[in-house]
Amino acid sequence: MSVTVLNHSLVKHKITNIRKKETKTKDFYQNVNEIAGLMAYEISREFPLREIEIETPICKTIQYEIAQEVCIVPILRAGLGMVDGIRSMIPTAKVGFIGLYRDEETLEPHEYFAKFPDTMKDSIVLVVDPMLATGGSAIAAIDMLKKRQCKNIKFVCLVAAPEGIEALTEAHPDIDVYVASLDEHLNENGYIVPGLGDCGDRLFGTK
Ligand code: PRP
Ligand code: URA
Repeated sequence: MSVTVLNHSLVKHKITNIRKKETKTKDFYQNVNEIAGLMAYEISREFPLREIEIETPICKTIQYEIAQEVCIVPILRAGLGMVDGIRSMIPTAKVGFIGLYRDEETLEPHEYFAKFPDTMKDSIVLVVDPMLATGGSAIAAIDMLKKRQCKNIKFVCLVAAPEGIEALTEAHPDIDVYVASLDEHLNENGYIVPGLGDCGDRLFGTK
């Protein structure tokens, strides 16, 4: 397993935008999608290519295309905020859905929805959720995908707590994790510090 913290000035700038408490729903959603698109650009640098013969207006030539299908799996709700940004970079990606919510008292994740494309198990699966706090939701989501024989899973999040990274690396040592920012710690309510608050509520204007 590898943990990559993306070091990119534009990503840092946009993360600052979503941390500000005065940032409203429209700008928050836009920035989350833009960060997700930039992350997809960086992560896809490693995707395997295959050769393909094509014909330009001038001649036949051997060129390259991505060799494996990509499947984006957002963890609802907040993960939905990253899907459009990634699809703007990888428009052929399929999309599956995992519905999980965190019990506010116990912080345990509860599953309420799952729907996946048939081809997912042979795809590069990008599990996306802006927040990695205790790690419970990410671990449960990846458990669900491994049960469905997914072999190439990458977890992509915007803001992570060290506690979440530790739990996820222990539970799933075989997957790659990409984060835009590694924050300081979790507070007594299970929120990331400095974080950005409740991401689902800020994306969708609830509360
Ligand atoms: C948030 C977030 C993650 C989870 C992270 O979702 O989007 O899924 O918490 O916390 P964890 O690492 O401790 O599991 P939440 O359960 O609040 O649901 P929502 O996206 O519907 O708001
Ligand atoms: N979920 C969020 O939306 N924010 C946090 O800080 C932790 C979990």
